[in-house]
Amino acid sequence: MIDIHTHILHNCDDGSDSLELSLKQISNMIDKGVTDIVLTPHYMNSYVQTDAIIIDKQFKELQNATTDLNINLHKAGEIFLTPGVDEKISKNLCIGDSSYILVETNMGEFTPDIYETLFLLVRKGYKPILAHPERYNYIMNDPEMAEDFLHRNVYLQINAGSILGLYGSKVAKTAWYLINHGFAHFIASDNHCKVDEYILPVALEAIRDNIDDYTVNLLSEVNPKKMLNNEKIKYFYLEKQPIVKSGFFKKILNKL
Ligand SMILES: [Fe+2]
Repeated sequence: MIDIHTHILHNCDDGSDSLELSLKQISNMIDKGVTDIVLTPHYMNSYVQTDAIIIDKQFKELQNATTDLNINLHKAGEIFLTPGVDEKISKNLCIGDSSYILVETNMGEFTPDIYETLFLLVRKGYKPILAHPERYNYIMNDPEMAEDFLHRNVYLQINAGSILGLYGSKVAKTAWYLINHGFAHFIASDNHCKVDEYILPVALEAIRDNIDDYTVNLLSEVNPKKMLNNEKIKYFYLEKQPIVKSGFFKKILNKL
């Protein structure tokens, strides 16, 4: 299992606030079968210079502290899309040695500069992955819009918590819609180290039970491996629409 979106790098953002906590979370993730963790601290346009230095420094420290552990760590950032960010970022914000980047937008309304900025990033050779589209109001209100991102060479990453209903029923419904229509390329934890439980395996089991093994493997192993190797991933991959077993979504919603 590969987790491509985490806030485990210590003292960088609103995630882990100590090296000890990061090590505790990593050891928990190893126990659950994680082999690779991508560290994606929030990265805002206005702090680019400082953040790049901090991320590099913290990454070296965490790597040194995990040399005896059976885990591969990959440095990256979660880049907040604002006009001009394409001019500010450089290769050191890509995921590991690849040209994939994790990006996020504001949670509210869609603004045309989102597409313009993504276009400029793609033109520069980056391969953007949009983090948790199911949590954005503009996607929740119009889930078919997700397909536009794929046509614009943008991949989509769903949060494990969204699948399990942790952000509410509308987000859960959108997350399942995106997976069920073949618009999702990755599932990740977006782990902010606020709770001990690591929920990515739980979300994967829900997908296994209600869709199939193929989708679980694709979103948590096959695509993440291709990403780390900088191989191309298909934007559209679904030949036959999987069927969510009846009653499952109702069961999830009843738990909310
Ligand atoms: Fe995040």
